[in-house]
Amino acid sequence: MSKANNLMSWIDERIPLTATWDKHVGKYYAPKNFNFWYYFGSLALLVLVLQIVTGIFLTMNYKADGELAFKSVEYIMRDVNWGWLIRYMHSTGASLFFVVVYLHMMRGIMYGSYKKPRELLWIFGMLIYLVLMAEAFMGYLLPWGQMSFWGAQVIISLFGAIPLVGDSITLWLRGDYVVADATLNRFFALHVIAMPLVLIGLVFAHIVALHEVGSNNPDGVDIKKVKGADGHPLDGIPFHPYYSVKDLVGVVVFLIVFFAIVFFAPEMGGYFLEHANYIPADPLKTPEHIAPVWYFTPFYAILRAMPDKLAGVIAMFAAIAVLFFLPWLDRNPVRSIRYRSFAYKAILIAFVVAFIVLGYYGMQPVTPVGTWISRLCSLVYFGFFVALFFISKGEKTKPVPERVNY
Ligand code: HEM
Repeated sequence: MSKANNLMSWIDERIPLTATWDKHVGKYYAPKNFNFWYYFGSLALLVLVLQIVTGIFLTMNYKADGELAFKSVEYIMRDVNWGWLIRYMHSTGASLFFVVVYLHMMRGIMYGSYKKPRELLWIFGMLIYLVLMAEAFMGYLLPWGQMSFWGAQVIISLFGAIPLVGDSITLWLRGDYVVADATLNRFFALHVIAMPLVLIGLVFAHIVALHEVGSNNPDGVDIKKVKGADGHPLDGIPFHPYYSVKDLVGVVVFLIVFFAIVFFAPEMGGYFLEHANYIPADPLKTPEHIAPVWYFTPFYAILRAMPDKLAGVIAMFAAIAVLFFLPWLDRNPVRSIRYRSFAYKAILIAFVVAFIVLGYYGMQPVTPVGTWISRLCSLVYFGFFVALFFISKGEKTKPVPERVNY
């Protein structure tokens, strides 16, 4: 036995390293028909790691103090060696995290990956999405620019719409009567340690849940039903080397796009880093137009579409909450969009278009036309879930093949 083998068996007798590798990588059988849409899970993992690593380096020079925060970010950008690169990687990573996660969720919806037996996997995913939004929101306060300050002011004050306890809640969240140094300090603590810890825990649970039931695929066929003599699914291939190599291609393409943005368009025309955030926070000067970063704007548009503040807050939170119930709102056992009815495809397309249009209007200043379009799109957004509940029950689907189409 070679020295390396000796070492491996020494380790394996003490911790199940080889067994874990085999179970989750080397002998984890994934469907052989994964397509483009299956890149985004591994890419989300990559961005998570990038954010944590760049975040650690940012923390080395950032100062969580109302007097110093803005200046410390400028210091990172101008004086710290490679500070500009680390900061742009972190800010670009935040936006691309949402690009990747939205595409990842879209895949889950299209291929019915939330359906039995993957309901918990979906719920973990939704919890990740919630925590990710909280993480991004708190991170955005840290540069202590005008948009950081006023964005947080607007969003925290939404809790004030809750009857009776609203004002106490906003005061408790901010730790002061306005967004202030106390708010900055707690957001820093939550952004740097609490939320990332929860996120890592949830991602771990997400992957454990996935490996317990196995991956779905673009046909929505259960590959475990047809097994070969060796006990492995006939339509499955080991994750390593097949999908580790495929995912590596995704990583390379992603990093090309990522660094193209970091080097050539880090502000992305004000979409990734808003122009108003290059002005230090000023509690006495409200910016003319306050808008959150693009990944929040669909929900912000739903909030503004409602005529009353409380209704707006409820609608905004309901828009996120309803996604948790997707596994039970969709009552059709057929998973993949490939075998579903025209009506299903039509409502799904309407849903996606409404979400994008809401995202657009959420970035724009309020206009009467914009408000009415946002109202219409909010109706379509919620209408999707209602229609799905009714359509899916008796839906005429196409026959699902016994084995995957490849
Ligand atoms: C930090 C964020 C996330 C990470 C790192 C992550 C990671 C992963 C990975 C590595 C996979 C397996 C590879 C793949 O199927 O693409 C996966 C599958 C899955 N994820 Fe996520 N995920 C994240 C967020 C989410 C969110 C927000 C949702 C939905 C609300 C979600 C729902 C799912 C579902 C349903 C599957 C199974 C897909 C299938 O088998 O067809 N994930 N995730």
